[in-house]
Amino acid sequence: MAFATHFVTLTLLALLAWAANAQLSPTFYGTSCPNLQSIVRSVMIQAVNNEPRMGASILRLFFHDCFVNGCDGSILLDDTATFTGEKNAFPNQNSIRGTEVIDMIKTRVEAACNGTVSCADILALAARDGVFLLRGPSWTVPLGRRDARTASQSDANSQIPAPFSPLSTLISMFAAKGLSARDMTALSGGHTVGQARCTNFRTHIYNDTNIDPRFASIRRANCPTMGGDNNLAPLDIQTPNLFGNNYYQNLVSRRGLLHSDQELFNGGSQDALVRSYASNGGLFSNDFAAAMVRMSNISPLTGTNGEIRRNCKNVN
Ligand code: HEM
Ligand SMILES: *[C@@H]1O[C@H](CO)[C@@H](O)[C@H](O)[C@H]1NC(C)=O
Ligand SMILES: *[C@@H]1O[C@H](CO)[C@@H](O)[C@H](O)[C@H]1NC(C)=O
Repeated sequence: MAFATHFVTLTLLALLAWAANAQLSPTFYGTSCPNLQSIVRSVMIQAVNNEPRMGASILRLFFHDCFVNGCDGSILLDDTATFTGEKNAFPNQNSIRGTEVIDMIKTRVEAACNGTVSCADILALAARDGVFLLRGPSWTVPLGRRDARTASQSDANSQIPAPFSPLSTLISMFAAKGLSARDMTALSGGHTVGQARCTNFRTHIYNDTNIDPRFASIRRANCPTMGGDNNLAPLDIQTPNLFGNNYYQNLVSRRGLLHSDQELFNGGSQDALVRSYASNGGLFSNDFAAAMVRMSNISPLTGTNGEIRRNCKNVN
């Protein structure tokens, strides 16, 4: 009796997990495009060797794809005379990088497996590889996403969190995507790599009180109160090209670059977790990888929905 009940419960749980994942599976292209993962990896190795920041840029591209109506490649679509995409939404314009790397991977993948692999799946794999190549954790990517035939600039403007957001807004914007506060704090660790523009951290370094004053003065040197909007600073002051838990150590010493970063260590609900990640790099790596898989499962198009785009820049 106990065994039978247990068995039924497990079967139900397995079914629920399967339904939540729709038809995504790590072996989706196992026979239709067996070399997919090695093609993505080889182009990413070249791109990251050429410029380490590219690993960071492609990770961010994936985040901005997934948060706007799911991981459906919508961010990769170019604007045309009759189509408004997401590339010029406020969080993306003059800021997102790396679409040309995804386009290059797509060209190689098309040559090997014409019309088979979505741009959305290529981006999910490339983001994983970017993190790994910067010495971060790796994870198995569920595959089978299809590409959107639409995009939404207004959703990109309203659903991607802003660097000025308070903690409560960060938590609620991730909750709106089915991600917990813990996922949000782990995924923010993406800011262990890459760069931000002065316009996104100026108010924080001049007007916030939850900041180390010596750190603020270092950052003010290259981010004046007026002008220099595009001047860059590393999101992680310690090792901007290495993926690790230094980001959380920075937060504990009040050296987060963005207001939104420092909100995770502001005397509020995420302080204890930030301290745990700061002292336990393995815990951060495990939580980050698991949260990336959850983010990569946001509202995929599967079955006959969407399409397999021939060119990531345009709908077929
Ligand atoms: C929690 C809310 C988040 C906010 C408010 C936020 C905001 C930002 C901002 C303002 C920048 C700099 C953009 C620029 O100045 O051009 C940035 C960069 C970046 N973000 Fe986030 N972000 C968030 C979460 C995430 C997540 C979840 C990831 C990935 C898991 C991520 C990965 C990155 C990376 C890697 C960069 C550097 C990109 C590069 O150097 O090209 N961010 N983010
Ligand atoms: C891929 O297939 C499409 C039609 O399905 C064809 O137009 C195109 O030329 C093919 N490309 C390559 C590289 O074979
Ligand atoms: C700092 O706050 C003051 C007073 O609200 C404001 O006038 C000023 O523009 C702010 N400076 C920056 C760099 O945000």
